[in-house]
Amino acid sequence: MSTSTIKGKAPANGAAAAPYELPWVEKYRPQNLDDVVGNVDTIERLKVIAKDGNCPHIIISGLPGIGKTTSIHCLAHQLLGDAYKEGVLELNASDERGIDVVRNKIKAFAQKKVTLPPARHKIVILDEADSMTPGAQQALRRTMEIFSNTTRFCLACNMSNKIIEPIQSRCAILRYAKLRDTEILKRLLEICEMEKVEYNDDGLTALIFTCEGDMRQAINNLQSTHSGFGFVSGENVFKVCDQPHPVIVQSIIRACLKGDIDGAMGKLNELWEQGYSAVDIVVTVFRVVKTFDELPEYTKLEYIKEIGFTHMRILEGVGTIIQLGGLVARLCKLNMKPELFRV
Ligand SMILES: Nc1ncnc2c1ncn2[C@@H]1O[C@H](COP(=O)(O)OP(=O)(O)O)[C@@H](O)[C@H]1O
Ligand SMILES: [Mg+2]
Repeated sequence: MSTSTIKGKAPANGAAAAPYELPWVEKYRPQNLDDVVGNVDTIERLKVIAKDGNCPHIIISGLPGIGKTTSIHCLAHQLLGDAYKEGVLELNASDERGIDVVRNKIKAFAQKKVTLPPARHKIVILDEADSMTPGAQQALRRTMEIFSNTTRFCLACNMSNKIIEPIQSRCAILRYAKLRDTEILKRLLEICEMEKVEYNDDGLTALIFTCEGDMRQAINNLQSTHSGFGFVSGENVFKVCDQPHPVIVQSIIRACLKGDIDGAMGKLNELWEQGYSAVDIVVTVFRVVKTFDELPEYTKLEYIKEIGFTHMRILEGVGTIIQLGGLVARLCKLNMKPELFRV
């Protein structure tokens, strides 16, 4: 694969790392659509476009860190080859993208004559297009039409509903889903191999748990753990990621299942004293419960309902330990016999 040709590997300890070392997210950014993992069907469509060359206007939408920007760049490279530099205009959220830029810069680029491979079009990449103002987007719609025989637009965004309807209807919309755990695992293993990272299974599980389907975050956390501790274990990952440790949260849930309020409160206090906010804790409780095999289906649903209400109250501003204690108490109560509550 193309990334494996990159020379240079990290020393065991990041402190001694050469100043030239790239962040791994950039170092291992796929150069070719074949190397982009996940979302197989959608990427298959892009490959067909890259082969046939007739690129429609496209919008790729999805959560951060799942390969949107990467796949647009791969597509443009594969379509234009050596003409990439001349044939592509890239504007992202850090560039000025007001109405004037759309009217002048994009229009000037669309009118420019460049030599491209036969039957190819110039490409305008608008990354993070949902941060463009509606005004600028309005200015874009006619430009897209007028120059569509020479120029195609590729937009990437987190939420496709922030793109105005008229532009959506001119584009093929491709939705990227969160990456699956196995897909992230595969990529992490490849990087561990190439960077000679020492790890154990617990460490990889922790990386996957904390990243929530975001490949960029998984790779960043892998690198931070590696350079900070030299070994990727579950414990080290949680030190880097600064999230409540799911094992403690699991023990809270287990205590609740047994109706052991003292045990549950003890563990909760432990987390609280480590300085986690109420939101951190409640979000982790939710994610642990969602995937906790020891809970019967019925209990799980009731738990998720209670956690949801607590999350709402915390977001309304009541993020105290009392609020979390209330949650724990209700979770305990759910599994106690009703007779116990009769007076
Ligand atoms: N599907 C993927 N396959 C391989 N690497 C990925 C994938 N998605 C993200 N990455 C990694 O994360 C980094 C950021 O991806 P990017 O495409 O910029 O995300 P976004 O979807 O936010 O635009 C890339 O440099 C790459 O290392
Ligand atoms: Mg991006």
